[in-house]
Amino acid sequence: MKVLIVYGSPDGKGNSRRLADALNQGLRADRTEIEEINIYDYNVTEVWSDYFSDALQNNFKRAGEDDMSGLIDKMSASDIIILVSPVYWYQLGGKMKTFVDRWADTINTDFSTDLKGKGLALVTTHSGLNVMNSSNYLQLAMEATARFMGMIWMGAVDAPTALPISSGPIDAHYQIAKNFGEKLSRGENLIGQKVL
Ligand SMILES: Cc1cc2nc3c(=O)[nH]c(=O)nc-3n(C[C@H](O)[C@H](O)[C@H](O)COP(=O)(O)O)c2cc1C
Repeated sequence: MKVLIVYGSPDGKGNSRRLADALNQGLRADRTEIEEINIYDYNVTEVWSDYFSDALQNNFKRAGEDDMSGLIDKMSASDIIILVSPVYWYQLGGKMKTFVDRWADTINTDFSTDLKGKGLALVTTHSGLNVMNSSNYLQLAMEATARFMGMIWMGAVDAPTALPISSGPIDAHYQIAKNFGEKLSRGENLIGQKVL
């Protein structure tokens, strides 16, 4: 199984990274081929007016010399793409969101997509202080995005941040993340169904 992990927090040693490291342990247990990148190391041009029609016609002149085509090559070479992002206002972090906005680069005129059949998974952390669990909104958005793109939703793991008035992650969060990594390396989704 080839896995691409895309880190998307400005804090390279933060909460999301620590949860992803636990997942990564599970992935490595099965000798999965893993490529890890940090979206902050890449230049991804934000979408422009008429972007979507340009994208359908494969016209990316207005993106300039950015890194998006190389990033699409990395995704195309992978079986599973794992996004690692804190929740920012119920959504992906901004830099990661810009990257996902640009996934429309892979949509063709007949609305087929070059990411069809790829597994998509999410690792995310949040404040743990919510009127409602904001990670759920992000998970729903990513599951719907996967469906639109013809990708296979593998599931998500999340954990709260340690704050003076919130619990923070406990061992069980890291254990679930590690188990998820093991399942992904076998082409299984979060509940253990073989989908890839
Ligand atoms: C701009 C911004 C927006 C945030 N929005 C939310 C939110 O909507 N819900 C939430 O629970 N936490 C929110 N948080 C808290 C982060 O999700 C949380 O601290 C996360 O664990 C940070 O991950 P990191 O250490 O990997 O960067 C937000 C933090 C920032 C900086």
